[in-house]
Amino acid sequence: MAMNRATRTSRIPMLNLLAEQQVIGGELAAAIQDVVGSGQFIHGPNVFAFEKEVAEYLGVEHAVSVNSGTDALVLGLDAMGIEPGDEVITSPFTFVAAAEAICRVGATPIFADISAGTFHLDPGCVEAVISRRTRAIIPVHLFGEFTNIAAILDIAHRHSLLVLEDVAQAFGAESGGRKAGSLGSAGAFSFSPPSR
Ligand SMILES: Cc1ncc(COP(=O)(O)O)c(C=O)c1O
Repeated sequence: MAMNRATRTSRIPMLNLLAEQQVIGGELAAAIQDVVGSGQFIHGPNVFAFEKEVAEYLGVEHAVSVNSGTDALVLGLDAMGIEPGDEVITSPFTFVAAAEAICRVGATPIFADISAGTFHLDPGCVEAVISRRTRAIIPVHLFGEFTNIAAILDIAHRHSLLVLEDVAQAFGAESGGRKAGSLGSAGAFSFSPPSR
């Protein structure tokens, strides 16, 4: 079949970060100018206000801002006491950060398969790879959608495992009145946009 260039090239961009400028561009510029004008680039009142607002929005006790979603995962695992010799179950179908964070604290990533219909972790496959060294599960909420967190939490409860939700792709996803990232022991978020 012959195809010319126009036929082969998608005209729908995967992401248009400039669209939001039309709605909140003025507000963003004023907020940036506020920070620049204050000369306070690290911590400061805006950071504390942000953490309070995020905690309220998610319905959690604390929100702590760090530099990236990857470090949020590393710090979350560290705070949970995950250490060398431990195994942490996560998804093979996600950005590399979850497996990377597990390695960064010296633990071993164990991949459980995903569900064909959702691309999220398959709870049955998670249960199948639990060993006596398993300490935690990192389920990943993908595409702005809630993963099957109820089943994952049930498995974690029955096997005394910790759950660190990776919410980098699903800030604001909601199910049954609860926000993604508010159900496990901790949640890690990111503001990194997908590359264009
Ligand atoms: C699912 C997932 N987890 C974690 C991360 C890491 O976030 P960051 O790029 O802020 O380190 C990303 C980034 O794309 C991601 O998609």
